[in-house]
Amino acid sequence: MNKLIDRFGRKHTYLRISVTDRCNLRCVYCMPPEGITVKKKAEILSFEEIFRISRIFVEMGVTKIRITGGEPLVRKDLDHLFEMLKPLVGLETLAITTNGVLLPGKIDALKKAGLKCVNISLDTLKAERFKQMTLRDEWHPVMNGILAAEAAQFESLKLNVVVIKDQNGDELVDFVDFVKDRRMNVRFIEYMPFKDNSWNSTGVLSYNDMKAAIERYYALDSINAKPGDVAKDFSIRGHKGTVSFISSMTDSFCASCNRLRLTADGSIKSCLFYEPELNFREQLRSGCSDEDLRSMILYALQMKPEAHPPMEELAGMANRAMVEIGG
Ligand code: GTP
Ligand code: 5AD
Ligand code: SF4
Repeated sequence: MNKLIDRFGRKHTYLRISVTDRCNLRCVYCMPPEGITVKKKAEILSFEEIFRISRIFVEMGVTKIRITGGEPLVRKDLDHLFEMLKPLVGLETLAITTNGVLLPGKIDALKKAGLKCVNISLDTLKAERFKQMTLRDEWHPVMNGILAAEAAQFESLKLNVVVIKDQNGDELVDFVDFVKDRRMNVRFIEYMPFKDNSWNSTGVLSYNDMKAAIERYYALDSINAKPGDVAKDFSIRGHKGTVSFISSMTDSFCASCNRLRLTADGSIKSCLFYEPELNFREQLRSGCSDEDLRSMILYALQMKPEAHPPMEELAGMANRAMVEIGG
């Protein structure tokens, strides 16, 4: 029975685990321009510590774990963590969100270790523009990563496109064309504000506007979403691939939120946009019992707010930088 029910009756089944705050890209919408002070190795949870917390979460009702970063693949031997998590009874889905740069060399080991669902961030189909948006010249490795993931036939493969009006807002139809003959889901994400990410409301291209721009060329048919999904999904007539929109800014989905987050340095973060968090690391390292950990998890869950404040307020709120949260 699920024990992860908050003050508003929401059942939590999905844990996002950030395994590192480091990243090999510098996406302008994610990383503050001055960078971040990365945590020291001793401050980051070991795989054994992550496994122990994950086991307890799964016993309490989590059925899906997504590994995130920073960029998760910069953490050495990540496939070992998947191998450890895979046998957890009750865990149905093991997923990753990655920028794809390091995927080509790691994909076989990850698949063998139990990875089922892969989300890859790619904001542009133009290599030059990629450099402007990520401050790194890595478009080709990412595209190779996407094609390698397609060939590996994961249960699901999604492309995450953060849309910023004046930067890549003109590429929506190109991305839809990209999935014409590919069994991939391309997801357009409304640009969200985070600490020092130079967000401005004029950069947000809304779900409605994005959908309308695509419908000038293609007919979209709504696909039923699963509870807790953040994306609105559509099939595209004549296409193998599908398209989705993540409308955090104009139509938030807090009422059905089923997510909790574990940060790389051992904090439970109950909401993407809520600064207060509960750090477990010292307790973990000073021999606390599973019961202590369960109580801390429930305490953190009860802090979870009903919804995030409106878009204009989010921009000014204290929070971690996105790169330290992992989405
Ligand atoms: P699936 O499990 O495939 O549905 O992926 P996901 O959407 O849960 O995860 P992913 O890491 O691919 O994130 C896609 C986008 O959704 C990113 O921009 C995230 O920041 C955003 N996102 C993830 N979780 C939340 C959330 O709880 N609230 C909001 N507002 N956005 C979220
Ligand atoms: N707004 C929306 N999505 C973002 N991501 C990173 N920063 C932002 C932002 N400011 C996305 C990344 C990645 C996922 C983890 O979060 O593109 O796909
Ligand atoms: Fe790195 Fe992902 Fe943030 Fe880009 S969005 S800087 S790839 S963590």
